[in-house]
Amino acid sequence: MFKILVFGAGSVGTCLGTQLYNAGHDVFLYGRQKLKALASQLSINGTAYTLPPKLTELETAPYNLILVTTKLPGISQAIKQIHHAQLNPQVIAFVQNGLIEQRFYGDFAYHPRFITLSLFNGYHLTPHQLHVQESQLGIQVENSATGHKICELFQSAGICCQITDDIESIRAKKLILNSVLNPLSALEQKTMAELIQDSSLRALFKQIIQEGWSVLHSDYFLPSPDVLLDEIYQIARQVPEHYSSTYQDVMSDRPSEIDFLNGYIVKLGEQNGIPTPYNREITQRIRRLEEKIAEEKTTTL
Ligand SMILES: NC(=O)c1ccc[n+]([C@@H]2O[C@H](COP(=O)([O-])OP(=O)(O)OC[C@H]3O[C@@H](n4cnc5c(N)ncnc54)[C@H](OP(=O)(O)O)[C@@H]3O)[C@@H](O)[C@H]2O)c1
Repeated sequence: MFKILVFGAGSVGTCLGTQLYNAGHDVFLYGRQKLKALASQLSINGTAYTLPPKLTELETAPYNLILVTTKLPGISQAIKQIHHAQLNPQVIAFVQNGLIEQRFYGDFAYHPRFITLSLFNGYHLTPHQLHVQESQLGIQVENSATGHKICELFQSAGICCQITDDIESIRAKKLILNSVLNPLSALEQKTMAELIQDSSLRALFKQIIQEGWSVLHSDYFLPSPDVLLDEIYQIARQVPEHYSSTYQDVMSDRPSEIDFLNGYIVKLGEQNGIPTPYNREITQRIRRLEEKIAEEKTTTL
């Protein structure tokens, strides 16, 4: 049995933590608004589960594993809190969406059992139910001793997890796919089905993909831009009613992950002298939308 802390228990963390808890592990959830709103029973894709205990403050304990599942803009704060509470886990695992420089993880990047996980499922949480849209890739973990341990742990709890030899290329591809669907769902206020039905957006899809591919293809193994475009249509067809996480974050006045998506492509373009005007424009439009929603929320208070 492992003692596990889920730091930042929202959609993903609550799901993983609940599955691990119900498989017999000693799991604690630490979160904020989303976690507070949850009842003690949670239905995951129609099956009832008991929620692990919620912590109101971080307790020093000998955790075997800390699973950090905040959104990316929340990670530096999470790292500060974990240090401040002097939690010294045997293994620390971060859920990473897309490509991120290791230095983003501060000291933990040098932890002997530091690991990052890439998630390819879709999670949507309401106070009584969690809907998980599973994809073939499930959860991907690097091929290392710690990666194998995490994979075994997850698989023993019925969580689909796979080891991969080239996790960085998988992440690079996901970065490009997300840089199309995530911001456009928010900017156009459209579901995935509505986005792909709008033929006027197809040219913009292509431009965003082309720029992402141009900044990444020399360092990662990537399919061609045409294949990436096809994959976008396939993904959107699998989750037709879904609004992207960027849409959900922006509408709830939470910081979006735009700086780690299109903003990151722009940054890489600047470093390598490759123009990325479409990704720059998308990043700026999302920032303006975030400001507008924040202003509207303040005015209605
Ligand atoms: N959801 C998906 O379908 C999906 C798919 C692939 C990858 N991912 C990745 O998985 C990660 C988690 O996503 P998610 O959808 O689970 O996000 P989420 O639902 O927003 O959950 C993150 C939770 O962390 C909490 N939090 C943030 N900072 C905290 C702090 N300092 N102390 C305590 N709690 C804190 C947030 O609190 P509040 O409730 O107050 O905001 C939120 O509930 C992200 O990197 C995301 O990109 C998600």
